[in-house]
Amino acid sequence: MTQDQGELVFRYRGCEFAVADGVQPPKAGSLLFCRHLHFLEGEHVLEIGAGTGLAAVLAARAGCRVVATDVIPEAVDCVRGNAARNGVGDRVEALQGDCYEPVAGRRFDLICASPPQMPTPPGRERDDAAAAADNGGVDGWDILGRLIAGAPAHLVPGGRLVFTLFAFLGPRSACARLEAAGLEPSILARETHAFPRIGYERLEHIRGLDTEGTLPVVKMPTSVDRLVMQGRTKPR
Ligand SMILES: C[S@@+](CC[C@H](N)C(=O)[O-])C[C@H]1O[C@@H](n2cnc3c(N)ncnc32)[C@H](O)[C@@H]1O
Repeated sequence: MTQDQGELVFRYRGCEFAVADGVQPPKAGSLLFCRHLHFLEGEHVLEIGAGTGLAAVLAARAGCRVVATDVIPEAVDCVRGNAARNGVGDRVEALQGDCYEPVAGRRFDLICASPPQMPTPPGRERDDAAAAADNGGVDGWDILGRLIAGAPAHLVPGGRLVFTLFAFLGPRSACARLEAAGLEPSILARETHAFPRIGYERLEHIRGLDTEGTLPVVKMPTSVDRLVMQGRTKPR
């Protein structure tokens, strides 16, 4: 970084997070996610798509052992740097890779993610870091679907998967997917946020996916509901 580029730093709950080039700064969805994540000391936590490492650092500060992954190498370095910056470098293992690929064969008490889930019309896919942070495939479920399907093989008995969801992707559909994976579904939180700018560019595509009727049919939406969903494995 040259002197002229400046440094983006995000402060939250007494911690400081540098936001590296190419890594998405914490946004409303990140804070929704962190507000409703609860960590128990000693838990083994996996965060998939950690970005700057906000949740991963908070989990480590709460006394958890954390594995934080991201598909973008800059994010993995950023998580590592932010863990050290907040005094928990020894409790956060940062790994690069797609979804569960970096943690094959490992199990966790808590798997958490605020994954990319913006529906992406055909032909609009990109492979840059900004797209990786937002785009969730044509129906928005690309990573969410794999996150849910892969959770039982990576959770201990009684373990939980916690993730954010745009309401237009369908909370009932999310519960059905969790049940199909053998997880007990619940909704931990629902908040109303400003409609994302990128969503306006894709509004007709998104409306076509909103089978649970969460968006106004004619009027321009100004807000979107976002949820925090949980799926729990059966206790032993
Ligand atoms: C919406 S951002 C959330 C970042 C961070 N968790 C937060 O709440 O601020 C999604 C993150 O997932 C990462 N990501 C995208 N596709 C991924 C994949 N297939 N496997 C792992 N991480 C992925 C992106 O690089 C990005 O950092």
